[in-house]
Amino acid sequence: MLIFADTAEIDALREIASLGVLDGVTTNPTLIARSGRNFVEVVAEICALCPGPISAEVVALDSDTMITEGRKLAKIADNVVVKVPLTGEGLKATKVLSGDGIATNVTLCFSVNQAMLAAKAGATYVSPFIGRLDDYGADGVDLIARIRAVYDLYDFDTQILAASIRNPAHVEQALLAGADCGTMPPSVIKALYEHPLTAKGLNDFMNDWKKTGQSIL
Ligand code: E4P
Repeated sequence: MLIFADTAEIDALREIASLGVLDGVTTNPTLIARSGRNFVEVVAEICALCPGPISAEVVALDSDTMITEGRKLAKIADNVVVKVPLTGEGLKATKVLSGDGIATNVTLCFSVNQAMLAAKAGATYVSPFIGRLDDYGADGVDLIARIRAVYDLYDFDTQILAASIRNPAHVEQALLAGADCGTMPPSVIKALYEHPLTAKGLNDFMNDWKKTGQSIL
């Protein structure tokens, strides 16, 4: 599963990128607002920082303006993926942008039927929102598994980008459900490798090593 960071904070991204396990980045209007930065500038910086797919979301509600915005965003860098909401207008825009050869991420997906339509519109990625479905009282991870089953059954090649991941358990469940990619805040990426037994084990090894009086270098 590809690991995407769900943030527009450059410092946090730089730190995560230095781990060597970052495959891409997703942003949305909320994350851009939170960064306090100019949208186009921050997307350009993220694209330079991470060579993988970088999602930048349109904000128009009608397909014509979404297409114009999407074409502008796609010019920022070769690795921009235009993020489009899963509405009727968004599906129309996805079809046109995909026809232009522009990579698309159809976002705000909450059902198998929506995911099927995104695939038929030619989406490169579809983003089912795990955490928001859980908050709503449904089962976000189960949606990932059901989309996986349908995409495999009908040979859709749209990639499933598990989004709205809130904790490491969501990541493990998305992996097992067959998501192609998962996007998560930098805090969740860090929580994937941090484990109390790793910290304790390392502390014990360091104390015992000191007792030997040796040095490797
Ligand atoms: C990313 O593409 C989504 O916009 C993001 O994962 C949503 O996460 P949230 O539900 O935690 O805001």
